[in-house]
Amino acid sequence: MNEFSDGAETAGELVNGQKEASPAMPRKKLFIKSYGCQMNAYDAQRMSDLLAPAGFDATESLDDADLVILNTCHIREKAAEKIFSELGKVRVVKRARRAAGLTAKIVVAGCVAQAEGAEIIRRQSAVDIVVGPQNYHRLPALLRRAEAAVDTEFPLDDKFDHLVGPAAGKIKERGVCAVVTVQEGCDKFCSFCVVPYTRGAEYSRPVAKILAEVETLAAAGVKEVTLLGQNVNAYHGEGLDGRVWTLAQLCARLAEVPGILRLRYMTSHPSDMDDELIAAHHDLPALMPYLHLPVQAGSDAVLAAMRRKHGRDEYLELVGKIRAARPDIALSSDFIVGFPGESEADFEATLDLVDQVGFASAFSFQYSPRPGTPGADFPDQVDAEVKRRRLGRLQDLLETQRAAVHQAMVGKTVAVLFEKKGRYPGQIVGRSPYLQSVQVTAPDDLIGDLRPVEIVATSANSLFGRLAGETARIEEVKA
Ligand code: SAH
Ligand code: SF4
Ligand code: F3S
Repeated sequence: MNEFSDGAETAGELVNGQKEASPAMPRKKLFIKSYGCQMNAYDAQRMSDLLAPAGFDATESLDDADLVILNTCHIREKAAEKIFSELGKVRVVKRARRAAGLTAKIVVAGCVAQAEGAEIIRRQSAVDIVVGPQNYHRLPALLRRAEAAVDTEFPLDDKFDHLVGPAAGKIKERGVCAVVTVQEGCDKFCSFCVVPYTRGAEYSRPVAKILAEVETLAAAGVKEVTLLGQNVNAYHGEGLDGRVWTLAQLCARLAEVPGILRLRYMTSHPSDMDDELIAAHHDLPALMPYLHLPVQAGSDAVLAAMRRKHGRDEYLELVGKIRAARPDIALSSDFIVGFPGESEADFEATLDLVDQVGFASAFSFQYSPRPGTPGADFPDQVDAEVKRRRLGRLQDLLETQRAAVHQAMVGKTVAVLFEKKGRYPGQIVGRSPYLQSVQVTAPDDLIGDLRPVEIVATSANSLFGRLAGETARIEEVKA
């Protein structure tokens, strides 16, 4: 059965002991803000769907909210600390609402919730509920309680079995591109990273459930699906034939869903990038030529200290294989500078790797020691000023590469899937196969269409194009 419908009963047990929000019952307002990765964004959407039958409609205004959910990220210190300053603001709103006789509850969800649990309520007593990323399906029940609650145990039941899809009529608002979590958690334990602790052990959803979710999305007009996982290419879910399926098999099946034109997946780990998946980038037209394949650093000594399970040469060889299968693929990566023990020579090795690969886009960060991870206790922590300088140099290089990739697109014609209105009136915006944002002056009714677009100019963040004739040849562009 389709999981967009079979969870409705769970969501029917509702806040304040009401069974279902009756039309006469006043609707309540939910303000939900998500930080961090796309998986958190997916979870925020699921929470919103789960609470809709409980009478909650989303609002953009914090002041109007009966329920505020901060869906938090713990990946770096700044991300985690931001939550406490945000909670200070939310508390002021809660007090004002209470003083005016209005309801206001505060929920902290996501990875800070998982990592810090009850400590959050000790630091900020205005918080009512702390709920981890594997427990948020229990939110309706938690909200019924009068007292504060913390729910961060890794549950034995599967949250995905309890989630519900958007209410009928709402799904169209989700647009033409959707994300679907297919794998969650991580068993890799890189020495800098909190994810194995906040998201738990690796888990792959069964193909049948993913397929049902994608079919529902496709029926509502979704044309591009990004499959999400902390280690998505380690996917090994139960297949339709009862055997374990790989990500390549999953993609091949999803590509057959009527209406699905494009598939992407993120984030991948280099050591799980197998030949079958690489071949899929050659064989499966729906699989877009974009791959986020974080390398983190370019020095073998640093990669070993990071416990990344791959060396520099292995990464470069892998890139060679991937480009042999799909020459125009746009590669993207995450980088950490200033990991403990990183010398100037180690850092130069990262710059050199970037030079050799040529990235179309990248995210780069200063190392942030995270409590409970091995890296936080390593000796030779790198000085803050050194980290800052290295990050600046790396980002300059990555920016130059990105600009060059953008520049090389000028004059080419590529397929653009239009997603929404653009920045200026009369413009609409979509994505190229390489995940670049493309602005085009064209009527709104082309939103949802895949059209050939000739790229005519570039800026720092976007490409600008014009609609090409339907017969225009769509070229592969070397990234
Ligand atoms: N699962 C993905 C990434 C998860 S976190 C992977 O394996 O690559 C996203 C990115 O945040 C990481 O790729 C890394 O570059 C960065 N990151 C994680 N922990 C960090 C830390 N302690 N300090 C700085 N950056 C970090
Ligand atoms: Fe974190 Fe490493 Fe797992 Fe990625 S592979 S989520 S960086 S522990
Ligand atoms: Fe952040 Fe958790 Fe995602 S720590 S990056 S929200 S998995």
